[in-house]
Amino acid sequence: MKLLITGAKGQLGLQIKSIIERGKSELGEIDNRYNYAEIKYVAHNELDITILSEVLNYIEEYRPNIIINCAAYTNVDKCENDIDNAFKVNAIGPRNLAIAAQRVRAKLLHVSTDYVFSGEGNTPFREYDIPQPVSIYGKTKLLGEQYVMKNCNKYFVVRTAWLYGKYGKNFVYTIINAAKEKGQLEVVDDQRGNPTNAEDLAHHILKLVLTDEYGIYHCTGNGECSWYDFACKIVEFAGIKCTIVPITSDKINRAAKRPVYSSLDNMMLRCTIGDEMRHWEDALKAFINDLNKQE
Ligand SMILES: NC(=O)c1ccc[n+]([C@@H]2O[C@H](COP(=O)([O-])OP(=O)(O)OC[C@H]3O[C@@H](n4cnc5c(N)ncnc54)[C@H](OP(=O)(O)O)[C@@H]3O)[C@@H](O)[C@H]2O)c1
Repeated sequence: MKLLITGAKGQLGLQIKSIIERGKSELGEIDNRYNYAEIKYVAHNELDITILSEVLNYIEEYRPNIIINCAAYTNVDKCENDIDNAFKVNAIGPRNLAIAAQRVRAKLLHVSTDYVFSGEGNTPFREYDIPQPVSIYGKTKLLGEQYVMKNCNKYFVVRTAWLYGKYGKNFVYTIINAAKEKGQLEVVDDQRGNPTNAEDLAHHILKLVLTDEYGIYHCTGNGECSWYDFACKIVEFAGIKCTIVPITSDKINRAAKRPVYSSLDNMMLRCTIGDEMRHWEDALKAFINDLNKQE
């Protein structure tokens, strides 16, 4: 078994690598085929997924059975003013990987986002719901999904949301650092979604990609909350004294519009390999307990 992991130095890429090296995640052991697999973890400077010729050369030479694409242009606000580059990384990049995957008959697992949805509604979006993104990030990610599905047969499109983990920048670290500095923080209370621990997502990705259960998946922490609720739990679990003040989104000036409601239902996981995603509060508590132990 040969794997290629692109965008390997990002938050999710590093989490996947860490689980493979440990042979297990907090959810349990991973398949022992990973012990014997040949795995290339490639960062942006080693393989730029936006250049078709480079992607084809690399993949046709290495000939992986499985490709996991963790590369993306993830700065949602920056995408609004850097449209061509967002389009290249989030849409052309996965298209290139799909064309190459098809040539070598590899499976391709591509990671996408809850921001493909409009945010209208009040029940969790399922895989059959029609996306209607409201930001450049969401629009380019949606096109990436479509290119993947059009250009290769053996695909998994895995949508996640509100991701945090040990590696890289994320909301949990931002709130912990800000709460330690200030006694009070304002956080928006009118956007709801699913905080997702990267450990849980990576565990499911590594399980899914060994199967032939192709399709679109939602893979997020169970339960939903607002960013305000999320921030309250972060300071509570971290044991930091800080008042979190709920505000509305119109109080902060951000370049990109966010979906008001983007909670996802992990229906496809439930109906195939099983949904072992933890409730967001349990996964957050475990994450912060680990951080506290390291201090
Ligand atoms: N973070 C979230 O809250 C969130 C929410 C929903 C969905 N997602 C999705 O989850 C996936 C993983 O996100 P993440 O949080 O791990 O993102 P991340 O930490 O920003 O990592 C993305 C990686 O992609 C690399 N990259 C950018 N352009 C590239 C290119 N042209 N060729 C190759 N690599 C390139 C980046 O490298 P450089 O930094 O060196 O450019 C970075 O290492 C993405 O598909 C994202 O859209 C994330």
